[in-house]
Amino acid sequence: MSRLLLPETASTIAGQTDALFLFLIGVSLFFALLIAGLIVYFMVHFRRRPGVDHDPDAHGSLALEALWTAVPFALSMVMFFWGASLYATIRHVPADALEIDVVGKQWMWKLQHMEGRREIDELHVPIGRPVKLVMTSEDVIHSFYVPAFRLKQDVVPGRYATMWFEATKPGTYHLFCAEYCGTLHSGMIGRIVAMEPAAFEAWLSGAAPGVENAAPAVAGENVFTANGCATCHRADGSGQGPALAGLIGRTVTLASGQKIVADEGYFRESILDPQAKIVAGYQPVMPTFRGLLSEEDVMQLLAYVKSLHGGGTGGS
Ligand code: CUA
Repeated sequence: MSRLLLPETASTIAGQTDALFLFLIGVSLFFALLIAGLIVYFMVHFRRRPGVDHDPDAHGSLALEALWTAVPFALSMVMFFWGASLYATIRHVPADALEIDVVGKQWMWKLQHMEGRREIDELHVPIGRPVKLVMTSEDVIHSFYVPAFRLKQDVVPGRYATMWFEATKPGTYHLFCAEYCGTLHSGMIGRIVAMEPAAFEAWLSGAAPGVENAAPAVAGENVFTANGCATCHRADGSGQGPALAGLIGRTVTLASGQKIVADEGYFRESILDPQAKIVAGYQPVMPTFRGLLSEEDVMQLLAYVKSLHGGGTGGS
């Protein structure tokens, strides 16, 4: 039945989403039919007829009251916990996920693999492995929607959104922009190509070498050098700014005493709006790079900083 009503299922969470969806539909349908049926039955059964006098007095029934309070309560609790647990699964990115950068712009999706290969309106992924998308927009709100994976994530300019999935079977699936974003919104479509891991590896290494397909970490190092970041962010920590190795994911203490996790969004904000969150012990001397760096530059810097481990590496 589900093949007729629902699109193809091709991710680990697609089946779970469908099960919850069908449960909600089932419950709604059951009660809608029950109530509509009772209305018709009562209309006919209790209609005014000569010689039949139905007692107009209503009698209370505690058992009935309790029943129609308890049953909807139990059902709504099932819906809540089922939905919340599925939501948590969808939001919690597995640690070993393959990372891919996504930038939406009027009217295309630009994607880049960490090995360097770039794609437009097309995304190749391996099956059986979690894939994490780090997404942002160059201009207006777009929405990354893959019906076969039952996933949709708005992509908002000025912040990073993440989404993860694990494709379960090879094939080509629709990718839509699901947020009206201007004249050619309807043309902002693409495809996801899910491949066997071996085929994916072959595809990934098939990119023509060159600047365009440089790994983001390598391109990020160039951005880092070209913008003089290393002047202050020295690898040994002796500069005016903090050393950046191992930063992403670490908890940092701000000048205000607040502790935050230095995630992707914090990293981006610190480049474009450096005064927003100053780490304790540092002066607010960093200039903004707003307008100087594109979203892709920032993502590449992020990839570069993620590639740094411990002390000692840096802008050599
Ligand atoms: Cu992008 Cu609609």
